[in-house]
Amino acid sequence: MLQKPAVLVVFLLGVSNAIAQNITYKVVTTALDNGDPLAMGVLIDDYKTPFPLTASADIPYIYTGYAPIAKSSYSYVRFNKNSWSLEEREAFSRDAVETDTVFEFYNRSQNTYSVPGLPQLYEPIDSMNRVKSDLHYNDRIPAIFLSGDISSFQTNSSKGVNAAVDVTYVGLDQAMTLKGAKIQLSGRGTRNLPKASYKIKFGEQDLLFGYKNIKLRSLITDPSYIREKMGFDLAESFGLPTTRYSFVRLFINNKPLGLFGLEEDFSNPWLANEFNNGVSQGFNQGILYNGAIRSNLQYLGESEAPYLEVKVKKFGDTAYSIKAKPTNGNADMKKLIAFTKFLKDAPSTEPDAAATWNSHVDTDSVLRSLALEVLLGDTDGYISSGDNYYIYEDPAHNGRFVYIMYDLDLTQGSASRSYVSQTLKGDYTKFLGYNEARPLLKQMLKVPEFKAKFESILRDFIRKQRDNQEFLYEHIDALASMIKEDVAWDKSISREHRETTVSQYLEEIVENGKDTNGKAAEPPVIDYSERVLRNDISFETAVNGNIDRITLMGLKQWYSEMIEAYSSFV
Ligand SMILES: *[C@@H]1O[C@H](CO)[C@@H](O)[C@H](O)[C@H]1NC(C)=O
Ligand SMILES: *[C@@H]1O[C@H](CO)[C@@H](O)[C@H](O)[C@H]1NC(C)=O
Ligand SMILES: *[C@@H]1O[C@H](CO)[C@@H](O)[C@H](O)[C@H]1NC(C)=O
Repeated sequence: MLQKPAVLVVFLLGVSNAIAQNITYKVVTTALDNGDPLAMGVLIDDYKTPFPLTASADIPYIYTGYAPIAKSSYSYVRFNKNSWSLEEREAFSRDAVETDTVFEFYNRSQNTYSVPGLPQLYEPIDSMNRVKSDLHYNDRIPAIFLSGDISSFQTNSSKGVNAAVDVTYVGLDQAMTLKGAKIQLSGRGTRNLPKASYKIKFGEQDLLFGYKNIKLRSLITDPSYIREKMGFDLAESFGLPTTRYSFVRLFINNKPLGLFGLEEDFSNPWLANEFNNGVSQGFNQGILYNGAIRSNLQYLGESEAPYLEVKVKKFGDTAYSIKAKPTNGNADMKKLIAFTKFLKDAPSTEPDAAATWNSHVDTDSVLRSLALEVLLGDTDGYISSGDNYYIYEDPAHNGRFVYIMYDLDLTQGSASRSYVSQTLKGDYTKFLGYNEARPLLKQMLKVPEFKAKFESILRDFIRKQRDNQEFLYEHIDALASMIKEDVAWDKSISREHRETTVSQYLEEIVENGKDTNGKAAEPPVIDYSERVLRNDISFETAVNGNIDRITLMGLKQWYSEMIEAYSSFV
């Protein structure tokens, strides 16, 4: 009995020594041209020459080949097909593996990272029934390769200019190409920045892990690269319905564009994915309104016109818009108007006030989201600017509205039009924008029960971080170590291919102090434009260090000062 295992071990060792067993190596990188004298290979242990890898027929960015299991290590290389000399090799060695590799990204030292994530602080709100999807991973960075003629929007940053592209997604264990997708620039202010954000809509029959529309966020306004990810991870931890967020590497026509944030766009079938477990068929979908520009939910009368007033002429953006139509009923502004009317005269201290509110809106979705805006120091949300939210009419809960926050880049010590100090008042009633017309917040906080709840959300979070810095810092550190190599890569990419007017836009503000309309730019706008144009703040400083600009602080520095500012409140 005792001898059997020993015999078995000897036998297995004997086998692997006798036959130099091969496995499949798979590496992901930009495609090599046919005329290129270079080829991809894998260099194993102390072999003098690489084993060649060949581009797969359907996805030219994936190179695979059989080669021996390494005794200690291997690395991927580019070599000259004719002379077999090494032209380039990865900056490190990979530890030997005994089975076929996953799709490993060239020159990235790890495939996965340990990113423990944040604790779930609140259960998902009642309406939520989110589909399981592989769109977002917390512990790895997939790659997206686009190919197609994108000159239409490289030279014209107007809204709605599309280009047709094929999209190849390569994760660690899956790869696919979705042909005939449409890409366009996304965002407003960021359209004019050297690194733009994009929106992709997949073709008629295509979905990427259940989603028809995705956004690729440029991250250029945030030298720490992780603010928006932190924001959405906290929204998830707060049990809020909104997009999840992850990182991807982006290439267009074989050229690197860098590290991007991947998020869901809220177009169909997003509502079915978020509220009906991904089932679109038979789903009784409510209307989804967007509040995007000076859309503070004030009652403006019964006529639709003022709700649909154009706020940004250049892009034709209206205050409110309809993002998704309802299955039943009309796609008009009536329900939004009725809601703003309810807010105007909403009950406050009446005994049934809370119940009445709860029949009109999921009050948890509002209280948690708005508390999170304060906790994130959101300079571009409902409280600060009356912007960047959706309200969804949920037929499964008698048509009450659910509040959905999004666009969390200008948060946690980063701003573009305001001073970050306005998020560090230590008193939420002095928070940026608080004293402007914000009926959703102000009216709700007149209800004693809601005010208590709102304040307890703020207190609990601040205490958590005050009593144990690691609560947030551990997550920040894990994300920072995962993206470190990609940030270095992102910063090394020349952005010259963007139209020259783009950098002129920033230069005009920085050098002449003039905004696009020719008026004198406000100090925060100048400061923000300058830091984006120069792009010279180190990643390490942005995450761990101190920065004292009017529109930017170090990420941890901001959290530490925010907690400190609220010390007498908790
Ligand atoms: C392993 O792969 C190499 C390179 O492709 C090949 O030359 C060799 O014959 C293979 N060995 C075995 C045992 O399959
Ligand atoms: C590999 O990455 C290192 C930094 O990690 C960088 O210095 C080097 O230029 C990269 N090499 C290639 C070939 O991409
Ligand atoms: C840019 O595209 C818009 C929308 O298609 C069009 O109206 C405009 O004329 C274009 N501008 C230039 C300079 O091509």
